[in-house]
Amino acid sequence: MKIACVADSKCILGEGPVWDERTQTLHWVDIKAPAIWRLDPKTGQTQTWPMPHRVGAIALREKGGLVAAMKPGFALVDLEKATVDIIARPEEHTPDNRFNDGACDPMGRFWAGTMDDLEKSPTGHLYRLDKDLSVTRFEAGFVIANGIRWSVDGRRMYFVDSAARTIWVYGFDVVKGVPGMRQVFAQLGKADGWPDGLCVDADDHVWGAHWGAGRITRYRPDGSKERTIEIPAPNVTCCCFGGENFDTLYVTTARIGLDEKALSAAPLAGGGFAITGLGVRGRAAPCFRG
Ligand code: BGC
Ligand code: CA
Repeated sequence: MKIACVADSKCILGEGPVWDERTQTLHWVDIKAPAIWRLDPKTGQTQTWPMPHRVGAIALREKGGLVAAMKPGFALVDLEKATVDIIARPEEHTPDNRFNDGACDPMGRFWAGTMDDLEKSPTGHLYRLDKDLSVTRFEAGFVIANGIRWSVDGRRMYFVDSAARTIWVYGFDVVKGVPGMRQVFAQLGKADGWPDGLCVDADDHVWGAHWGAGRITRYRPDGSKERTIEIPAPNVTCCCFGGENFDTLYVTTARIGLDEKALSAAPLAGGGFAITGLGVRGRAAPCFRG
C-alpha cells in the first residue's frame, strides 16, 4: 500500500471527491473557500474555480456539467462556461443552515443533507432532487447531516450523522427512491473522532473517513471493521475510488479547526491524497439524470 499527497491544495474544508470516468479527472469541493477543484492525475495539474456560494457537494450530470448542493440551495454548475444556476431553495426558512455532503442514488436522483453551520442546532434535513428538478424533504433533526451513499444493489442507504458519531444504514426502495427503517451501522467512540464522508467499494464494503482522528476505516457489510488506514492529516473528510481501474482511493482533508501546532505537525492538511496497492476496486458513482 502507498499513500501520496496528489494535491497540496490546503483546502479550508476539502470534501466530496468525485471521479469523472469521461475525463479521468477528480473533482472535489472546498466548502468554505468556496471553490471547486479538479485534478488530472496523469499530469498532476490542478485547476480551481471560485464559487459564489458555499458548496457542500457535487455530482456529475449525465448531460455534462455538475449538480451542486450550495448554501442557497440546489444548483446546476458548468465550469467551462462559468455558470451557476440555483434551481431550488428548500432551506430559505433556516438561514443558518448550509448544505453538506450529497451524492446520487443508483437511479440518478441527487440527495444532500443540510446542517447548522455553527454545528449546534439539530436543524439539518435530508433532501432528494429528482430528474424533473423537484425537491422532496425527508428526515430532520440532524446537527450535521453528512456522507450519504448506497450499497452495490442500491437496497441499503448509508447516512452519516456526524454529531451523534453514528453511521446509519437504511433500507432503501430503489424504484421509489424512499428510505425505510434504519439501524446503527457503526457507532464511533470519542477516540475515533467523528464519522464524516464515506464510499462503498465493489465488494460492498464501506470506507468511512474519521474527522479528528486522521484515518479511514473499511467496514464489512455487517459493520465490523476490516482495516484502518492512517492519513497524514487529522481532519479526514471523505474518499472515493478512481483511476483507470477504479483501484486508487482518493481522500480529501480539511485545515479548519487545526491550530498552528496541529498544522505544523500536519503540513499537508487540506490536501488530496491517493492510496494505491489496496487490492480493492471501487465503482463509478452514479450521475445525476436531470
Ligand atoms: C462538515 C464540517 C464538520 C465535519 C465534522 C464535515 O462534513 O462539513 O463542517 O465540522 O464534517 O464531522
Ligand atoms: Ca462531509
